[in-house]
Amino acid sequence: MAWAVWVGSVRKGSYNAALARALPELAPQGVSFDFLPSVATLPIYDADVEAEGFPAVVEATGAAIAAAEALVIVTPEYNYSIPGGLKNALDWVSRLPSKPLGRKPILIQSASMGVIGGARAQYHLRQVLVAVDGRVFNTPEVMVGRVQTLLTDGTLTDEGTKTFIAKQLKAFSEFIGR
Ligand code: FNR
Repeated sequence: MAWAVWVGSVRKGSYNAALARALPELAPQGVSFDFLPSVATLPIYDADVEAEGFPAVVEATGAAIAAAEALVIVTPEYNYSIPGGLKNALDWVSRLPSKPLGRKPILIQSASMGVIGGARAQYHLRQVLVAVDGRVFNTPEVMVGRVQTLLTDGTLTDEGTKTFIAKQLKAFSEFIGR
């Protein structure tokens, strides 16, 4: 079964998207990845829109999360928290009656050009994931600082970082009982 991947940044040259693209190479054998629709494709949450029916992209995102064995969220930190687009996407999916995030095993990764690597965003994200009853993996945590020094032409090439991420993915795989 696949692990769904959600990226918190929507820019073309996103370092977090680069981290997400490295997942297939670093994951244990047999794990595949299903990239969820960009968080930019979900409208701003509006209860009036919800009352008329969930947008198709929200339904599709929820269905993909429900079908996945686990969810990996790779996100930057904006102003010491998670990007608004990611929060909006989580808010939409939390409203689906099927509750696709409930009891879903969730892995968090973040990358930042600063030294803290998005740590503060991760702890805000954990708080939100309590509300949706996600089963969030704890340690080791992947918080990639100075990420701009670890890539070559948009690809993660730093061997130490790759080894550490592979270690986290293996531990997560064991956490979900693979
Ligand atoms: C940032 N950035 C940032 N970095 C950080 O480590 N802590 C922070 O609080 C913030 N705050 C912040 C706010 C806003 C509005 C922006 C646009 C940026 C920098 C951010 O981590 C950097 O731009 C990353 O490169 C963004 O991730 P992607 O797009 O490369 O994946």
